[in-house]
Amino acid sequence: MTPDFAQRHLLGTRSLTAPEITALLDRADRYAAVNRSADKKLSVLTGRTVVNLFYENSTRTRTSFELAAKRLGADVVNMQTGASSVAKGETLIDTAATLNAMHPDVLVVRHQDSGAVSLLSQKVNCAVVNAGDGKHEHPTQGLLDALTIRRRKGRLAGLRVAICGDVLHSRVARSNIHLLTTMGAEVRLVAPRTLCIPGAESMGVEVFHDLRKGIADCDIVMMLRIQNERMSSGYIPSTREYFRFFGLDREKLAAAKPDALVMHPGPMNRGVEIDSDIADDVERSLIREQVEMGVAVRMAVLETVTRNLARELGQPWGTEA
Ligand code: CP
Repeated sequence: MTPDFAQRHLLGTRSLTAPEITALLDRADRYAAVNRSADKKLSVLTGRTVVNLFYENSTRTRTSFELAAKRLGADVVNMQTGASSVAKGETLIDTAATLNAMHPDVLVVRHQDSGAVSLLSQKVNCAVVNAGDGKHEHPTQGLLDALTIRRRKGRLAGLRVAICGDVLHSRVARSNIHLLTTMGAEVRLVAPRTLCIPGAESMGVEVFHDLRKGIADCDIVMMLRIQNERMSSGYIPSTREYFRFFGLDREKLAAAKPDALVMHPGPMNRGVEIDSDIADDVERSLIREQVEMGVAVRMAVLETVTRNLARELGQPWGTEA
C-alpha cells in the first residue's frame, strides 16, 4: 500500500515524497471520476468547516477549493479580505487567531508574502493549505498539473518538461520543479536572463534562455504568466518584444515533440506569453483539463489534511470511527 501524506498542513511540494505525491494523485483521480458523474455530492467532510482566506485575487483556486469542499459535504466560508477587518488594519496573525477561535477544520490561505502561510500555520489548531504565497509555492497547482500530465501521458517519470516564461516571480514554477523532479521528470527552465531564478541549476533543472532550444524534444511545454503585479520595472523591454522571443506560437511549438502538450496555470496574457491559436487548440492545449483537475486535487487534499488533523486530535475518522 502507498504511504499517504500524513501531515496536518500542506505548505509546499518541496517536502513531499514520491509515494506521498502518488497517493494524493491516485485519490484525486478517483475524485475526477466523481466530478464527471451526475451526483457529485459526497459526505466525506460532513460536519467539517473549511475557510477560504484569500489576500490576493483568484478565480480558479478559490472557486475550486469552494467547490471541492462543498462536493465533500463540508460547510464553506469565503473571507473577502477587502470586506473584512483586514481592511481596517488587522494583521494576518490576529485574523488567523480570530478565525481559529471559531474552530474551523481547514484554513485555505493565499497571501502575497512568501512564508506568510507557513507562519500562519504555526498559530492555529486547524489544518492549513497553502493556496499560493508570494513567489514561494502553490502546491495544489503543482499537484493538479502533475495529475493532468499523468492522465494524458500515463506517467511522469522520464518525461521532458519545459517550464517557460516568468520563472523568477512564479510560485507555480517552484512547486512544479520540486514535484516533477521528485517524480523523475526531466525539468527545463526557459526564461530571459532577467526572469530566471539565480542559481536555478541547484534545483536539479537545466536552464535555457532561448525558447526554441529550451522546448526542443519536450513532451510538455508549460507556459507561465508574466506577473506584472510582482515586477517593479525593467524586466522586459515590451510585451511585443517579449512575445517575439518568448511567446509560444505554432511556429515555435514545432521545436517540441510532435505530440507535445501545452499547459498554462492561468490566468493567461494572450498574445504575451501564449498565442490564442495554441491556447485554444484542444488537440495540443491542456489548459481546460488543468482547471478540471484542480477541483479533484483540492478534494483529495482537503480530505487528506482533515483526516490527518482528526488522527492528530484522536477524533474518529471514516471507517476508523
Ligand atoms: N492558477 C491560479 O492560481 O489561478 P488563480 O489566480 O485564478 O487562482
